[in-house]
Amino acid sequence: MPPADAEPTRRTTALLFFIVSALLPIPQSLGAAQAPQDAPDGMALYEAGCASCHGSDGRGAPPDRIAFDDPLPDLTDCSFASREPDADWIIVSKAGGPVRGFSDVMPAFGEAFDDDQLQAVMDHIRTFCTDHAWPRGELNLPRPLFTEKAYPEDEWVWTAGVNAEGRGAVTNELLYEKRFGSRNQIEIALPFGFAESAAMRTGRDAGPGSDWGLGLGDIEIGYKRALLHNLQTIFSFGTELKLPTGDEERGLGEGDLKLEPFLALGQILPGDGFLHLQTGAEFQPSRDEVGILAPGEEREPDAELFWRAVLGRTFTSGEFGRSWSPMVEVLGSRGVGDGPFAAEWDLVPQMQVTLNTRQHVMLNVGVRIPLTDADARSTQFLVYFLWDWFDGGLFDGW
Ligand code: HEC
Repeated sequence: MPPADAEPTRRTTALLFFIVSALLPIPQSLGAAQAPQDAPDGMALYEAGCASCHGSDGRGAPPDRIAFDDPLPDLTDCSFASREPDADWIIVSKAGGPVRGFSDVMPAFGEAFDDDQLQAVMDHIRTFCTDHAWPRGELNLPRPLFTEKAYPEDEWVWTAGVNAEGRGAVTNELLYEKRFGSRNQIEIALPFGFAESAAMRTGRDAGPGSDWGLGLGDIEIGYKRALLHNLQTIFSFGTELKLPTGDEERGLGEGDLKLEPFLALGQILPGDGFLHLQTGAEFQPSRDEVGILAPGEEREPDAELFWRAVLGRTFTSGEFGRSWSPMVEVLGSRGVGDGPFAAEWDLVPQMQVTLNTRQHVMLNVGVRIPLTDADARSTQFLVYFLWDWFDGGLFDGW
């Protein structure tokens, strides 16, 4: 049969089946057992268990039809629905709203529906958002300390780092990321830090602790867009502009306007594993005008290429508990241009953990270990605090 005819026929059959089963007093369980190949019928289960509150269309039942004041999510809103992974929704449906810090009006269906049935309900809920340009929340993999994710985010991230040896410095970065449209994100990063001044570093003024100060780093503005995605992989392009706002004396700025285009890939691996890859280049658009060497200054590369890879896996404590994501990050970079520039390598083992019940507030702790040029570069301890603000207030869902 040509495919053009198949759709209306199937729809007519489904409609007939629906009318007949609505007229005959067939018990729900018997109806389900008669479904082809015993596959649970997600739509029927949704109608039976969820539609009274969430509405047959997923927009939420009208207020006069329900006996509670808690607002219902709009399951047709792609901006909201696309970013929630099935696994999270199954947990909420199984164990009830409070398991993820939501209202206890959302009942627990763990007794009524088995995992296959809940998955079928999710598959039905997924039909409510019809715009597939929105990458799915499954692709929102745990965030590494350095590598830029391919997934567009709504987040605040505060990262702090402290050098283990050598020049004293405590660096901080406050990052704000905001999505717009289905695939885009803008971000602004404000680095600041406590550091010893250059004079202190070279030993010209060796007064103990006398020259520590707070300084601003190079502010960064970025744009990112997801180019391709399916349920396993997401691939993005982005670019960052680094403004020369930093305090160079304290080693907090590089003194030049820099542009950093990059490509990023996120890949889901079997067994709750995941991979991030990022590669890009950093260069100065106005290099010719500013590229004159000051006396004593070393020649700088024309550009820097970098590549980053992260391998990780997520573990959950108990069935619904905290998520732990150990990751190993490898950072490589190399100057290109006039001069012998060697590649630099770092290894960054780290552990991300969700802090609250809603799982939208997280911590990551790691250490950046230089593998090359280890005499000149310090080991650095790092920690970030992340708030996925779209999922709720900072103090919601604990
Ligand atoms: C008695 C009413 C009621 C029924 C029945 C109900 N829900 Fe809910 N559900 C709610 C309410 C209220 C919320 C909002 C909770 C909040 O935001 O604090 C909710 C939230 C949810 C969420 C969380 C969305 C998010 O914010 O991430 C999911 C998923 C969900 N429901 C799925 C289901 C499924 C699947 C069924 C049927 C198997 C179902 N619900 C049946 C009332 C209900």
